[in-house]
Amino acid sequence: MTTEVTESARLYGNTHIVWLTMPPELHSATPGQFVMTYAGENSDPLLGRAFSIARVRTSDAGREFALLFDIVGRGTEWLSRRAPGDAVRVVGPLGRGFEPRERVQRMLLVGGGIGVAPLVWLADRLIEDGREVTLALGGRTAAQIFPAHLLPSDVEIVVATEDGSLGTRGLVTAPFEELLPWCDQAFACGPNPMFEAMHGVVRHSGLRKPVQALVEEQMACGMGICYSCAVFPRRGGVRLVCTDGPMFDLRDLY
Ligand code: FES
Repeated sequence: MTTEVTESARLYGNTHIVWLTMPPELHSATPGQFVMTYAGENSDPLLGRAFSIARVRTSDAGREFALLFDIVGRGTEWLSRRAPGDAVRVVGPLGRGFEPRERVQRMLLVGGGIGVAPLVWLADRLIEDGREVTLALGGRTAAQIFPAHLLPSDVEIVVATEDGSLGTRGLVTAPFEELLPWCDQAFACGPNPMFEAMHGVVRHSGLRKPVQALVEEQMACGMGICYSCAVFPRRGGVRLVCTDGPMFDLRDLY
C-alpha cells in the first residue's frame, strides 16, 4: 500500500522522525508491530526495511503513524529525505507486538538507543489506559536519548548514558535492576547485549517478573520467506523474528 509523508524532521542527535498517512490496513496495528518500507516502486521483497511503528496520531489530515530511526545507511538516508507529499510504499502491520497483561498497573519500559521507537507508542497507549509507566532510556551519549518533553507528562523517565552526559553514568540495565521489584511487567527494546544483561538481572533477582523483549534484527522480507532474521534461542531451535516475534518472552531467548 502507498502512504504519503506528512512531516519529516530530525528529532534529536542522528535520529529522524517521518510521519505518514495511515492506511486502513494499518489501523489494527498494536505497539511493537512493524511495517516494511520500500524505496520507490521496486517491489523486490528482499529490498525492504523494517521499522517499528513509533507513534500514532489523528490530525486534520486523518490518522497518521510515525517511524523513528537513526540514519545509518542508504535506506534510512533515503527515508529521511522524503518530503511532505512524497509517497512511501509500506506493508504491514507485521509481527507480534507487545502484549500488556490485563489488570496490572506498574509498567516498566526499557529502551536502548533507537530501541525507544516502539516504546514511545506503547507508553502513549499504557498512559491512555490509566497504567503507571516508568521509561528507562539508555544510550552512549545524551544525543541518543529521546527528548522527555515529547513523552506524555505522566511517564516517569529515568536516563542512563555511558558517558554520563545525561542522567546517571552507565548502562540502562542499572535502572532496570533497581526498578524491577517495583514493576508488574516489563517491556524492552534494544540491542541483543542489553537483553542478555537484562536476562542476567532477572535471573539473579529471583523475581519472576514477566519481561517482553522486542528483538531488533535485520529483516529483508518481513514475512518468513528469506530467513535473514533467524535467531537461535539457547534452549535450541530456531525462531524467525519477523513472524514468531519480534516480541519474545525474555526467558525464551536465553
Ligand atoms: S525477514 Fe525474511 S524470514 Fe524474517
